[in-house]
Amino acid sequence: MTIRSVIIGTGSALPARRVSNAELAEQVDTTDEWIVERTGIRFRHIAAPHETTATLATDAARAALAKAGVEAGSIDLIVLATATPDQTFPASATKVQAALEVGDCVAFDVAAVCSGFLYALQVADSMIRAGAHRRALVIGAETFSRILDWEDRTTCVLFGDGAGAVVLDAQEGDQVSGRGILATRLHADGRHNDLLYVDGGPSTTGTVGKLRMKGREVFRHAVVNLAAVMEESLAAAGLESAEVDWVVPHQANARILDATARKLGLDPGKVIVTVDQHANTSAASVPLALDAAVADGRIKQGDLIVLEAMGGGFTWGAAVVRF
Ligand code: UT7
Repeated sequence: MTIRSVIIGTGSALPARRVSNAELAEQVDTTDEWIVERTGIRFRHIAAPHETTATLATDAARAALAKAGVEAGSIDLIVLATATPDQTFPASATKVQAALEVGDCVAFDVAAVCSGFLYALQVADSMIRAGAHRRALVIGAETFSRILDWEDRTTCVLFGDGAGAVVLDAQEGDQVSGRGILATRLHADGRHNDLLYVDGGPSTTGTVGKLRMKGREVFRHAVVNLAAVMEESLAAAGLESAEVDWVVPHQANARILDATARKLGLDPGKVIVTVDQHANTSAASVPLALDAAVADGRIKQGDLIVLEAMGGGFTWGAAVVRF
């Protein structure tokens, strides 16, 4: 028997304000038809001034703890994936720790943009399997509305704000029949920095900067990389795509979800889609989609799920989980 990290609770949080494509079209030169046809996006949530990455992360974490039925005080590790922290430092994870009154623990942020949740999950899983921690909060939280150029129609219509969280618990399990994270695979290729980046930073411009993206090129890489890393992670778990109950993908574009599913020969009905409701929430998108599908009863205990994401860097990754 080996130690496995089991997801014992999921939670999410969205800003109160929900913005439709039609509302956006009043501010920028776009249309509901263009956005729906090219991306599948219909709505996104936008944070109010009092809503920050850390407050959304805290709300999502609180919901995940409640779902798991465990106390905040039992958490000994918080890993928060974000590209939009409240402050350059300290880590937003420490704000979550303080807000939830977790007490002494290890708390830090992970920066891998849209793949951040997959990176955070592998880091927390590795720390649990090494025996260093027993119970972790893994959170993806973003306020991308704060780094969008609201005059650039090619990017500002694509993103939204939100947070999702899971509670990971150290449990004994066997390789395939037991619950838990069965395999994770991560990648990075820093040669593609200029295809998706923020044009500012503390060490360069001294400003926060705005998001810039060459969407068409990102799209092309996304389909190839995501299909490959899903196959790689399934092979690492000794499983095949036909055994997968649900794919929980990063929600960037409905056309990427379709193309990736087709490439793997997966039934599109097994792909969880929330991009229509949330748009692209970067590191928050996978845990938001996971919580939505758990809450509505599609994903059940014992299901085999594959999480995947790709984003700036490039970075990408996948995780195979017996839920
Ligand atoms: O989360 C990280 C990963 N990110 C992604 O995976 C994003 C990947 N990329 C995409 O999802 C798509 O490439 C986009 C949705 C960003 C763009 O879709 P596309 O089909 O690749 O469109 P395009 O960039 O080739 O642009 C087509 C046309 C252009 O006009 P011309 O040059 O053909 O006259 C754009 O100017 O659509 C125009 N356009 C718009 N029109 C109305 C671009 N944005 C808009 C807009 N409204 N918001």
